[in-house]
Amino acid sequence: MPSRTFGSPTPLAPSPGQKVIEQTLTAKPITLDLGGRQVATWAYDNAVPGPLLRANAGDLLQVTLDNQLPADTTIHWHGIRLRNAADGVPGLTQNPVQPGSKFVYEFTAPDPGTYFFHPHVGVQLDRGLYAPLIIEDPNEPGRYDAEWVVVLDDWIDGTGTTPDDVLKKLIADGGPASSGGMGGMGGMDHGSMGGMGGMSMGAAPWGDAGDVIYPMFLINGKPATDPDVLTAKPGQKIRLRVINAASDTIFSVALGGHRLTITHTDGYAVQPAQVGAFYIGMGERYDAIVTLGDGAFPLVARPFGKTSGGQALAIVRTGSGTAPDAGANPVELSGQVVIGSQLQPADAARLPAKDPDATVNLALQGSMKPYQWGMNGAPFGKNEPLKVTAGQRLRINATNMTMMSHPLHLHGHTFALPSGLRKDTVLMAPMQSFAIDLDADNIGDWMIHCHNIYHAEAGMMIALEYTT
Ligand code: C2O
Ligand code: CU
Repeated sequence: MPSRTFGSPTPLAPSPGQKVIEQTLTAKPITLDLGGRQVATWAYDNAVPGPLLRANAGDLLQVTLDNQLPADTTIHWHGIRLRNAADGVPGLTQNPVQPGSKFVYEFTAPDPGTYFFHPHVGVQLDRGLYAPLIIEDPNEPGRYDAEWVVVLDDWIDGTGTTPDDVLKKLIADGGPASSGGMGGMGGMDHGSMGGMGGMSMGAAPWGDAGDVIYPMFLINGKPATDPDVLTAKPGQKIRLRVINAASDTIFSVALGGHRLTITHTDGYAVQPAQVGAFYIGMGERYDAIVTLGDGAFPLVARPFGKTSGGQALAIVRTGSGTAPDAGANPVELSGQVVIGSQLQPADAARLPAKDPDATVNLALQGSMKPYQWGMNGAPFGKNEPLKVTAGQRLRINATNMTMMSHPLHLHGHTFALPSGLRKDTVLMAPMQSFAIDLDADNIGDWMIHCHNIYHAEAGMMIALEYTT
C-alpha cells in the first residue's frame, strides 16, 4: 500500500430532516460453533455474519468501528456510492485502525439495494468479519410478504489454519497444480502455464475453481450439517437478498422445487428473469422473489468446481415434512444456471446514453505458480493508477488474460456493461473481455480489484484516481 497518512474525516452533520442511523461494531476474536465444531475466528459483535445494518436511501450512517482485534483493520462498505473518506481502504482513504482504537464511518447511502461490509486489510474477509447492509427504497411498494437475507461463505478459519497462513502457503508453494494461470505480467516470471487440467467435466463456464480447499461452506454462518431454517407460510412471496461473502468460491444457487424471479443485482433493477438457478461470484449480490410451496425445501449454494467440503445449505420450511439432508441435490442445479452478466437491465437502471469521454485499458493478469496476480503489467503498488476527470464518462476495456475467473469490483461507483446492466462486481470468465462504462461523479481515490481476496492480496488491484 502507498504510505500516505490521513487525518480524521470531516464530521458530517445531518441535513434538515435527514435520519441518522447510529451503530457501534466491535471487531474481536470469538469462538464460533459450526455444527458442533468450535473454531476460533474474528467477528463483528460476536456473530457471523455480523449484525445486519438497515437504512433508507438518503439516511446518514454513523458507524463506529471499535477494533479489539490483535491487528489493524478497517471497514469497507461494498457497493455503496459513498464519500471517499468513508471507503475504508488503508493507505488510500484512511489510516488503518489500530488495535484498541476506534474509527467513525460517516456517510450517506444514496442508492437502495443489497450490500455488505467487510475489512479492507489483508485477507481478513476470509475470517468471520462480514455482515449485510440493506438500503431500503422508501418509495418501493413492498410486493412481498417477507424478506430473507442469505449470506454465503467459504470457511477455513480456525480449522487448523488461518487465512493469513493460507495466503503464505499459496505464495510459498503456488496454487493447486491443476489451476491454470496465464498471461503473466511483463517483467514477472510467467511460471507454468498450468494448462486446462482444472477444466475437467462440469467446470465450464468459469475455468479453474479457486485456489483454496475449504472444509465447509456456510449460509448465514451455519454449515449444511446444522443449517439455518427459514420459515414462512405456503403461498407467501419472499424477497431473497443473496450475498456472496466468500473469499475464493463462486456458487450456483437454487431453491429445490421452486423457480426464482431475479429482480436486482448489486442494488440495481434488472428485467425480471425467471430462473431455476444462478451463479454468484464473490462480492456479487442478487435479489429474487419466490412464491413458496408447502413443505420443507433445500436452499443450496453449491461451490463451483470444488470437490471437497460439500455445499452450503439452508432449509426453507412452510409445512411439515422431513428436512432435506446436507447433501440435498435440487434438480434445478442440473438445469440451466443463469450467468448474471447476461441479465438485462431495467430501463430505470441504465446510464443516460452518452459516448465515452475517455477510454482506458485494464488487463487482469497472473499465474498460480508462482502465485502472482496483477493488473496492467504489475502487482498493486507497482502498477500505474487509472485516471479519470470528474464529469467524464469513462470506458474501461477490461480483459481477463488468465485461465481463472475473477470477480472484478469497483469502489464508489456502479458501472454499466455493454448491455446497460448495472454492476459493481462482475464475474469475468477466463479470457473474457467487457467494456464497462462509469460516470465519474464521485471524487476521490478508489480501488478496482479482483474480489478473490487471495488474488487481491497477491496484487490483483489497481487504483482509480480523479485528476483535477
Ligand atoms: Cu468488497 Cu475492495 O471490496
Ligand atoms: Cu482473481
